[in-house]
Amino acid sequence: MLTKRVQVLAPSKTMYFTAKANKLKDQGFSVMDFSVGEPDFCTPENICRAAKAAINEGYTKYTLVNGILELREAICKKLLTDNKIFYTPNQICAGTGAKQPLFNAIFALCETGDEVIIPTPSWVSYEEMVKLAGADPVFVKCREEENFELNIHDIERAVTDRTKAVIINTPNNPTGAVYGEKTLRQLGDLALQYNFYIIVDEIYEKLVYDKAKHFSIASVSEKVKNKCILINGLSKSYSMTGWRIGYAAANDEVSAAMKAIQSHTTSSGNSITQYAAVEAYNGTQEFVQSMHDEFHKRRNYLVSRIQKMPFVSCGRAPSGAFYIMLNVVRTFGREYKNIRIDSADTLADLLLMEAHIAMVSGEAFHAEDYLRICYAVSMENIARGMDRLVEFLREL
Ligand SMILES: Cc1ncc(COP(=O)(O)O)c(C=O)c1O
Repeated sequence: MLTKRVQVLAPSKTMYFTAKANKLKDQGFSVMDFSVGEPDFCTPENICRAAKAAINEGYTKYTLVNGILELREAICKKLLTDNKIFYTPNQICAGTGAKQPLFNAIFALCETGDEVIIPTPSWVSYEEMVKLAGADPVFVKCREEENFELNIHDIERAVTDRTKAVIINTPNNPTGAVYGEKTLRQLGDLALQYNFYIIVDEIYEKLVYDKAKHFSIASVSEKVKNKCILINGLSKSYSMTGWRIGYAAANDEVSAAMKAIQSHTTSSGNSITQYAAVEAYNGTQEFVQSMHDEFHKRRNYLVSRIQKMPFVSCGRAPSGAFYIMLNVVRTFGREYKNIRIDSADTLADLLLMEAHIAMVSGEAFHAEDYLRICYAVSMENIARGMDRLVEFLREL
């Protein structure tokens, strides 16, 4: 008999669509895959060189649990320069991707009886990690009419005396929303008023477009910073998903607890990756800008195509990350080859099996009227995918 903990765990729906798409590809079909949330660029050369040098120099052993000092210093410098927040290297705990630091943070803070507020649409793993920790997720809807921005009144209404933390993600996966400074300052005030933590996932911070600016809530004041656990990583900003490197920054008490958890689970992150990450932060940043500019172009192209399509829409162009939420509510009740579309799940399945377009059903993110399009896909394939989508929609 498996544990109750595992029985409440839902398998990842993003993985489900990716796996199904991969199966079709293996069978020789050309699938336009908008399901995988990882940059389609190679890791920059200078970072790869630093990794090779680390191997040659023999840096292939355990490191300190929270990471080599050089890396934690580079992270502190980055947080001060980019985000205007001062942390000491002791307050940084580097780990395996951003996922592990997130897990550490949730396990350090949340237990049975606690509530954790998660604004939705939300990335798939927050809810499951909260449940694994024994705590109860409390969902607060962000609305398309408000560009999926956090609604601070809704958050306040959801706070109870059991609220232990709020998890925010800005720029957001899956909506692409970038929360405004004013909203984040208000959330900081709420955290102090009601005494809850803010776990803030900033993994897409380098991908903001037009006039949007990424604002780090931990920079509001020392008091607010003390309530924040900042999560970031290099997977998205330096196209390093497979290298598995991320980190958390938090006050002394919380960072020591996270380090203790990590010491008994995975120990340090990969040693070679840590040296590569030092180069990523301290070396040239040209790649970050050029990847950003390419994503910006793709987003503009996609939005202009979607705006001309029947039955679907995407509101205003999302300000960040590399995702677009496609509102598909007007397809519900229609039929494709005698199959009735009654949900985003059915539509996503039909698109994949009939048109060979892979998009993740919004049901994975508590967004039942949407499909998520990830545009970490070449411009050529975006164009082909959108042509196929138009053809599909014409048949409804
Ligand atoms: C919002 C968000 N946070 C965290 C992660 C996990 O990042 P990593 O691959 O570095 O563990 C992802 C990955 O998709 C993500 O979208």
